[in-house]
Amino acid sequence: MKEWYNAIKEAQSLSKLEEIRIAVFGKKGVLAAEFAKMKSAPKEQKSQIAKELNEHKSALMNEFTARKITLQTLELQEAMKAEAIDVSLYSTKSEAGALHPVMETMDRIVEYFSSMNFAVKTGNMVEDDFNNFEALNLPKYHPARDMQDTFYFKDEMLLRTHTSPVQIRTMMSTKPPIRMIAPGAVFRRDYDLTHTPMFHQIEGLLVDKEGEVSFANLKYILEDFLKYMFGDVDVRFRPSFFPFTEPSAEVDISCVFCKGEGCRVCSHTGWLEVLGCGIVDPNVFKAVDYKDVSGYAFGLGVERFAMLIHQIGDLRSLFEGDIKLLEQFR
Ligand code: DAH
Repeated sequence: MKEWYNAIKEAQSLSKLEEIRIAVFGKKGVLAAEFAKMKSAPKEQKSQIAKELNEHKSALMNEFTARKITLQTLELQEAMKAEAIDVSLYSTKSEAGALHPVMETMDRIVEYFSSMNFAVKTGNMVEDDFNNFEALNLPKYHPARDMQDTFYFKDEMLLRTHTSPVQIRTMMSTKPPIRMIAPGAVFRRDYDLTHTPMFHQIEGLLVDKEGEVSFANLKYILEDFLKYMFGDVDVRFRPSFFPFTEPSAEVDISCVFCKGEGCRVCSHTGWLEVLGCGIVDPNVFKAVDYKDVSGYAFGLGVERFAMLIHQIGDLRSLFEGDIKLLEQFR
């Protein structure tokens, strides 16, 4: 019997202990065999043997239960150690993307005009001469075409130089009244600190009955819009020229860098030019066959707005895709 006490005490795993349990307490186990042997023992010894065997049986059972609890505890501890999570470990940083500053600026501009009930139109990046120039009162050989040299394809097709052709496309396909903006990419043969071959513009057009749209309406909405974009700035309108508007104006805001004091960015004038606008030229309405209407139009460069909002010096840096730079505008 002695060796079974030791076997139980020394069992190293629950499965080993189970083997021992069967060998000791099982139907064909040691105890059963001992009880069987007892039957053939002399009568007067039987009760003594039975007593001893029963004592062994319960003592072995106690050993067994104690060992089982110990082994269960040990196995649980092992399992917990293996599955433990080290909460002090650094996790890996997962980067979330963000809108490019140009797109973010575009979204804000679109948001403003959408709130004023302007529909959003897109037009085509590959345009024809009629929509991009001719219908906008820029006939062939007009000197103003020089400022918008672009990339030409066959059959008078070209990469649009501004979003103004979307005005023409919209008027050709819809009846007045019209209230639309057209955000999108435009292309020019340009490359320096403040010009890239591709950039983004937002065009605006409002058309209603003759005599219903005035320069005062245009002035009101653009002032409101510029204050929405730049906060508390001064706004001024300067007479200018665009072939598709008459009268035309360029709009300045007080310099956001020096608050109008005069600095390098505003060339010491205290003002920054931000958009072009005017009352739609009658020749434009003639080109799209609109009669008895009046309207205003405006156009602006989105990159210029983004540069002023984020105080970026070199326009080209917006297109280099440098993550370190772009991360700063989150
Ligand atoms: N299309 C002009 C440009 O690209 C911007 C512009 C100026 C658009 C005045 C307009 C406008 O609609 O009225 O420089």
